[in-house]
Amino acid sequence: MTDRYAVFGNPIGHSQSPRIHSLFAAQTGQDISYQAILAEREGFVAAVSAFIAAGEGPARGANVTVPFKEEAFRLATQRTPRAEAAGAVNTLSFDAGAISGDNTDGAGLVRDLKHNLGCDPSGRRILLLGAGGAARGVILPLLLENPAELVIANRTEETAARLALEFARLPGCAIDVKPDGTGFPGLAGRRFDLVINATSAGLSGAVLPLPTFVFAPRCVAYEMVYGRVTPFMQQARAAGARVADGLGMLVEQAAEAFFIWRGVRPHTAPVLAALKERE
Ligand code: ATR
Repeated sequence: MTDRYAVFGNPIGHSQSPRIHSLFAAQTGQDISYQAILAEREGFVAAVSAFIAAGEGPARGANVTVPFKEEAFRLATQRTPRAEAAGAVNTLSFDAGAISGDNTDGAGLVRDLKHNLGCDPSGRRILLLGAGGAARGVILPLLLENPAELVIANRTEETAARLALEFARLPGCAIDVKPDGTGFPGLAGRRFDLVINATSAGLSGAVLPLPTFVFAPRCVAYEMVYGRVTPFMQQARAAGARVADGLGMLVEQAAEAFFIWRGVRPHTAPVLAALKERE
């Protein structure tokens, strides 16, 4: 019997996850099926229950995307520390009635930075733009890499300040770096080696009010959005930064989920190359 997996979201039509996981499965010789499921806005839990109940083989797990990651967090009967810190779950595992929740987004970002882009966050001055769900999901994994500093900048300054404070006193975590929260004007005169855009501004084509000098020499600028050139990417390129989009993070977070489910780590480079060819 083939083990079944799915990704739940709304919308879900353009999800790359089925393709990514079928490439991972072919590469590692794993017998799995993986489908995209559109859940009604108010029907996430029902959709997951229906997926578990119906089908040929056993349902083993699921990925969860916008807008259900917080609901997946609540659905999980147990959660990893990184999912707790993120306040969101993107990977569910089903086992004998128990539902385990994890969040692989931050690990995906860190892996993309270190292994695909040759940009080790350790010792770098990091600027994280945005204080919503996408930003929150990557803070703990970035802090665990021991950067020189982590500044969270957001349009609404209070949200950044609150988020920074929360991660400055994470219980049970021996982290040396205390994040700092600010609004965009607070960035004047500051420079960073790694600037990560976790705002959704790129989706609406909005330009972030960033001082040019935030991009230090040899800076890497990382846009979490993929499949388009955003104003942030243009701004960063014009300032001389090396620019990457979020496609690598997408593939790496999927590889981390695949590893959780199957115990084998797929090679991501050929999968990333295949997706880039399609772009
Ligand atoms: P996500 O889950 O993608 O993080 P979200 O939780 O709605 O989505 O958060 C969106 C983030 O993008 C927020 O940090 C938001 O800033 P505010 O907290 O001030 O709303 C940021 N954002 C969205 N559009 C923006 C814009 N045009 N300029 C600056 N920041 C923007």
